[in-house]
Amino acid sequence: MKFFIDTADVKEIREAAAMGLVDGVTTNPSLVAKSGRKFRDVLLEICDIVKGPVSAEVVTLKHDEMMKEARELSALRPNIVVKIPLIPEGLKAVRTCAEEGIKTNVTLCFSATQALLAAKAGANYISPFVGRLDDISTDGMQLIGEIVQIYDNYDFKTEVLVASVRHPMHCQQAALMGAHVMTAPYSVLMQLSKHPLTDIGLSKFLEDWKKVPQ
Ligand code: G3P
Repeated sequence: MKFFIDTADVKEIREAAAMGLVDGVTTNPSLVAKSGRKFRDVLLEICDIVKGPVSAEVVTLKHDEMMKEARELSALRPNIVVKIPLIPEGLKAVRTCAEEGIKTNVTLCFSATQALLAAKAGANYISPFVGRLDDISTDGMQLIGEIVQIYDNYDFKTEVLVASVRHPMHCQQAALMGAHVMTAPYSVLMQLSKHPLTDIGLSKFLEDWKKVPQ
């Protein structure tokens, strides 16, 4: 499974990349706003760090406007993937992007039928938001299982990119279900390495090492 980091904070990207955890990056307008930087500046710096796919989201709602943004974003760097919302105008833009060879990540997906439409439109990635479904007492990971099965049934090439990941169990279940990609915030990526028995074991080893004649 590929690991993307869900952030526009370049310090976090560098840290996670140093551990080999960054196959790609996903951003969204909220994350860019949180960085406090200009979109283009932060995007170019991310692309200097990461050679894998870097998702950058459009902020318009009509096909023609989205296509203008998509063409401008994709022209910045070859690894930029244009993130497009799952609305009818967005699906039209995904279709046009596919025809023009612009890579897309369809975002704000909350149902299996939405994911089916994104695949038919020619999306490279579909981003189901599991945490936000959990937030409204709906099983986000069940949706991942459904999309993986549907894509597999019809051999769709669209990759399932599990988004809105909030904790390690989302990651573990996504891997068990065969999702292609998971994008997680830096804090969750760090949680994945944690185990109390690792810390206890390490303390004991280092304590015992002091008894070894030097
Ligand atoms: O980047 C999209 C997604 O991962 C957002 O996550 O935690 O804001 O629901 P969250």
